[in-house]
Amino acid sequence: MKAAEGHGFGKTILFGEHFVVYGLPAIASAIGSKTTAVIEPADRYELVDLRPATPGYKEEKHGEQVESNRLIFSACKVDVEETPFKLTLGGDLIAASGVGASAASAAAIARALNQYFELGYDDAHINALAYEGEKGYHGKPSGIDNTAAVYGGLIWFAKNLKGGENTMDLLKMPRPVEIVLGNTGITASTKEVVEDVRRNREKDPKKYGRIFAKYGEIVVSARKAITEGDLEAVGRLMDRNHELLEEMTVSCDELDLLVGVAREEGAAGAKMTGTGRGGLMVALTPGKHLQDKVAEAIEGEGFVAYKTKIGI
Ligand code: PMV
Repeated sequence: MKAAEGHGFGKTILFGEHFVVYGLPAIASAIGSKTTAVIEPADRYELVDLRPATPGYKEEKHGEQVESNRLIFSACKVDVEETPFKLTLGGDLIAASGVGASAASAAAIARALNQYFELGYDDAHINALAYEGEKGYHGKPSGIDNTAAVYGGLIWFAKNLKGGENTMDLLKMPRPVEIVLGNTGITASTKEVVEDVRRNREKDPKKYGRIFAKYGEIVVSARKAITEGDLEAVGRLMDRNHELLEEMTVSCDELDLLVGVAREEGAAGAKMTGTGRGGLMVALTPGKHLQDKVAEAIEGEGFVAYKTKIGI
């Protein structure tokens, strides 16, 4: 058998982490960094993980990674005892909470298996496999991460809570826009944070009803602002989305600090992105100059910043 390679895009959630679990629409964008998976013939199954990573991330997620890969192999009817191979993960996407690292890896592995074993799967099938893989990392993923990882671009996504097809529209921005991702360096468990939100929502349905209704308005305005290229409005709406996530207690001091720093430096808007309670924040920083300024300020606080673009 010939060596095969697949890739999956990293993503940032611009609007709607957590809300998306309950069927509200979210907007995510693929970023310019990818995870790659290479499969080569070998005498025994071996996983080599060369992805750049937040310290501690790989160790913390190791059990979930093994389970995720097992789910993908099983869905492809691949038996690693019968047909062993070496699976090498790499690419320039940082393995960290909040950047879709698990979904990018699942998508890359699904694509590499598809090529290696000549399975003939189309993108929709690859997406279903990446979703299977995501289940290994957290029980009930909304599906937004794997969709962005497989298709790339800028997507409007709503989970179909009845189990039917999810809504997915590809959005277009007039031009790609610079963003900065700030990394708290803290690895959070998506499963635990999602579960905590569920418990809090059950405890205080009135408060959560109000927060969810506000978010519903924000995301509709955000779609319009994004497609029209009204970056000031996009930024303002990101700020409001962050406030709601703070109210839901999924932000944390480090995220709030980085969001504050980005805004002080002139970012159009900033919010936490992904699971929260650690992981990453995203700042909208149109123009190279502003992007550099915000990234430097985040680094000045002792955190790692990544410069990339959305709407690519
Ligand atoms: O931390 P991430 O980038 O994997 O994003 C998780 C997003 C949640 O909405 C919190 C969960 C989900 O399944 O959508």
